[in-house]
Amino acid sequence: MRIVILASGTGSLAQAIIDSVASGDLEVEIVGVISDQPDAMVLQRAGKSEIKTFIVPMKANRSDWDRDLSTLVESLKPDLVVSAGFMRILAPDFVSHFRVINSHPALLPNFPGAHAVRDALSAGATQTGATIHWVDKGVDTGKVIAQVRVDISSDDTQESLHERIKIQERGLIVATIRSLIPGLESEN
Ligand code: GAR
Repeated sequence: MRIVILASGTGSLAQAIIDSVASGDLEVEIVGVISDQPDAMVLQRAGKSEIKTFIVPMKANRSDWDRDLSTLVESLKPDLVVSAGFMRILAPDFVSHFRVINSHPALLPNFPGAHAVRDALSAGATQTGATIHWVDKGVDTGKVIAQVRVDISSDDTQESLHERIKIQERGLIVATIRSLIPGLESEN
């Protein structure tokens, strides 16, 4: 099974997938890691593991960028696209053409959007977590595949809470991709 990873930043989720593939725990081929950010650490991480990396920087004309991303992903022929810390909203045509999952640092439908950890803290929530979901045309509205809960402590900062979420999220994304393999293979 061929997967493409989309990521914008540090790439610790991508690294968890890369490590699981390298150890044989996850039987997929990572055919590319794509970032919208030229300096994203995820590109170095993937490069170290000799995975092909691609940069698709945002353009003044958003639909040109959508087309560039779609053309690139199409050329990689993925069975699954994994959005793992990708901080861009994918175009409706993209999500209807490719099978896309996203990892989100909250228990959806609570706290969608780009500031999920901050929003959970400022709402005074006592629990949050991470969600892996299918991506549809909305923002973090697609069908939930898997979730994990994380308790919020009274002394949590955004950074401490996000790091605890990400520890859980790394395991969840790998386990979720693994769980999707049989279904995706039978569709081929
Ligand atoms: C993860 O917590 C992921 O859920 C979040 O970015 C982090 C990426 O961490 N994504 C979003 O907030 C998307 N709305 P990483 O760069 O260490 O993999």
